[in-house]
Amino acid sequence: MASLTYHGHSTFSLRTDDGTRIVIDPFFDDNPVSDVKRSELGHVDFILCTHGHTDHFVDALPLARETGAMLVATYEIVAFAGTQGIENSHPLHIGGGRDFPFGRVKMTPAIHGGQVHGDDTGQYTTNPAGLLINVDGRALYHAGDTALTMDMQLLRGQVDVALLPIGDNFTMGPDDAVRAVEFIQPEVVVPIHYNTWPMIEQDPERFRDLVGDRARVEVLEPGGQLTL
Ligand code: NI
Ligand code: MN
Repeated sequence: MASLTYHGHSTFSLRTDDGTRIVIDPFFDDNPVSDVKRSELGHVDFILCTHGHTDHFVDALPLARETGAMLVATYEIVAFAGTQGIENSHPLHIGGGRDFPFGRVKMTPAIHGGQVHGDDTGQYTTNPAGLLINVDGRALYHAGDTALTMDMQLLRGQVDVALLPIGDNFTMGPDDAVRAVEFIQPEVVVPIHYNTWPMIEQDPERFRDLVGDRARVEVLEPGGQLTL
């Protein structure tokens, strides 16, 4: 079974049974709560990004350059990466999925901002997304940055482990994240996008209480691991 490591904020690395290493929303060096620096990551095969905001994307292009990993993101982000010399990439878009050697990645809707860090022209502004990742017989949903959406009901029955923002202010807060859990009905939920900065301070134990018996809440510290 795949092993998921939390690096704080919305950043994860995933190691699959076949040894593939996937980094999601790379935010390491300027992430005040990350357990590792980008240079300490070592081997990476794929980089998946939900959207282009700094706190999900700032380390994506350097990491792609340094490791040769394939960048998987929306069409616009991949096009922008191409202007920055990144050629090993694959574009997806909302509602579309693709089978990669390690498993399937599908992009899901998210309601949020679409600016792309580093794009001074503004021409690569994109739709933010979530990621539904099927790997080693399990289904992982990374919601990205998003409001609570009715669309989340469409994920019911398709998600084993849900990574949901609870930070409020920029994304769902704890109360809406509980409604997301009701919509999606995952087995396990991991709160993300909180306690990185004072503006998104939340108590994950309060979130656990609010979720109650709807799902198992796994609160991960940076560096913490979860077997899917
Ligand atoms: Ni964002
Ligand atoms: Mn964010």
